[in-house]
Amino acid sequence: MSLLIENLADELAQNGDLSDGDLKAALETNRYDLELFKLADSARRENYGTNVYIRGLIELSNYCKNNCYYCGIRRDNPNVERYRLTEEQIFSCCETGYKLGFRTFVLQGGEDAYFNDDRMCNIVSTIRRRYADCAITLSLGERPFESYRKLFAAGANRYLLRHETANEEHYAKLHPAGMSLQNRKECLRELKRIGYQVGSGFMVGSPYQTTEHLIEDLRFLQELQPAMIGIGPYLTHRDTPFRHFPNGNVQLCLRMISILRLMFPYALIPATTALGTADPQGRELGLLAGANVVMPNLSPVGVRKLYELYENKICTGEEAAECRFCLHNRVASVGYQIVTDVGHVRTFYEQNAK
Ligand code: 5AD
Ligand code: FES
Repeated sequence: MSLLIENLADELAQNGDLSDGDLKAALETNRYDLELFKLADSARRENYGTNVYIRGLIELSNYCKNNCYYCGIRRDNPNVERYRLTEEQIFSCCETGYKLGFRTFVLQGGEDAYFNDDRMCNIVSTIRRRYADCAITLSLGERPFESYRKLFAAGANRYLLRHETANEEHYAKLHPAGMSLQNRKECLRELKRIGYQVGSGFMVGSPYQTTEHLIEDLRFLQELQPAMIGIGPYLTHRDTPFRHFPNGNVQLCLRMISILRLMFPYALIPATTALGTADPQGRELGLLAGANVVMPNLSPVGVRKLYELYENKICTGEEAAECRFCLHNRVASVGYQIVTDVGHVRTFYEQNAK
């Protein structure tokens, strides 16, 4: 074993943490990647074996009131054909998904005022009633705390809200004035207090990002202790102010997944669609680096191309069943297997039973 990897393993064994110096060293070279991935894979096997959990993603709406500089469905992009799914379409996605073995539905959308608390609570409580054995995950951005409480009471149990970057100056370079990192962090803390299993995360290789920013992201996550951590490479979109910035580096993203697995051994970490878009083998490599979740799309094929956060997004032409089958094979090809399981975080109920 190389000295650096030996060091990381020792530090983790002694205090479950990694020093800034070692993190910087590990992130800034690809020399130790194979050893790092192997170490992360053994941490993942200790906690989750070779299981891979699937989450069915339903993209409710591509309307968004925000104007994030990196995102293809930002408010000021006039070239997006906007859509909203009807309740019937949403329920029909769940029905298809359930038959395909999905036990988690992720309702994701831009920040769209149409999906107010009444409409959302109605959707959530209907899904809850029909699928008692499923988790309902929401990914609807920043909302008033009261709204988070109502949705939880209606039956939602998880919430995804990436912090995007934990550094104030960097946050201000990725978002227009009016969006605040502080509010985003407060939302995450409140979601946790309410009782949601919370997911956060960030893009790797977003414009102006430095190694120090990535270390700050890790420190913020250590404070938050999320159940889920989603990361993927930044990918460019022709209709955003960031169109001239290059895509994030896949190898760096994989290293980051390994480091997340080592620092958050219990976390549910997806091999994201962005990773699969950046590299044809991206999701398989993500699993080998420590990820244990995949999140295929259950949205109706007719709208998939319209939910274009970045260019060349994969799986926009495939039916849910095709992706399910394709993923079965991809996951098996690297030695893991998809399970039909709600896939709660290992420690969540233990922690909350106390
Ligand atoms: N490239 C990669 N990821 C992106 N996201 C938004 N735009 C992009 C992009 N251009 C990510 C953000 C957001 C999640 C839903 O998708 O991190 O939280
Ligand atoms: Fe969608 Fe492979 S996962 S086509």
